[in-house]
Amino acid sequence: MAEKIKLSNVLASEQLLPHQARGVIEERLRSAILDGRLPPGTAVRQQELATLFGVSRMPVREALRQLEAQSLLKVEMHKGAVVAPLIGEDAVDTYALRVLLETEALRQSIPLLDASDIDNARGYIQQLENETRHAEIGRLNRLFHMSLYNKAPNKKLLRLIEDELNEEERFLRFHLSSMGLGKLTQDDHNALADAASDKLVDEAVAVLERHLNNASRVIRRYLDTQLGR
Ligand code: NI
Repeated sequence: MAEKIKLSNVLASEQLLPHQARGVIEERLRSAILDGRLPPGTAVRQQELATLFGVSRMPVREALRQLEAQSLLKVEMHKGAVVAPLIGEDAVDTYALRVLLETEALRQSIPLLDASDIDNARGYIQQLENETRHAEIGRLNRLFHMSLYNKAPNKKLLRLIEDELNEEERFLRFHLSSMGLGKLTQDDHNALADAASDKLVDEAVAVLERHLNNASRVIRRYLDTQLGR
């Protein structure tokens, strides 16, 4: 069924200037994939995009390569690029890894956080309250988490976490709809900001573990039913 969806029904045709084409095409496709207008399995053809945006195939190819690197597209034999599944078999492993990495970063970061870091974190919670666009929710969720980790002295750890969080943005749409939520609940986020503000490291770590394990459980249940386990 997914193969029947045509790009031209989802993306508005527009005339792009050559120098902005790659970036704009990447962004248009990225939000359409993240908010579900282009479901997994949809074929993404270079020529169709080139025609839609009035550009050559070169910037289109570059945009698709970026999206492939972000695991939003995958290349299939005889089919070319298609929208990747929202949830991979390794999603549960990803969450287990996130718990390890992020609790360590939080432990390192909390003693060094100042009032402006906490203000930033609370600002993202506020914006998440009012946001309904999935792509934007994913971005704000990532910024919220990073704002509490970013004082960790181990910068390599922070880069690994940022990669995992970028990857998580594509789970988010699935996560919200499978839990019947139009938006993220902010209870965990508020508890996390409070504990970080009070420098309660163990309490903050416990909240973060619960937050990530809940998401992981939802995904495991989904994969189990999908695979009939
Ligand atoms: Ni979160």
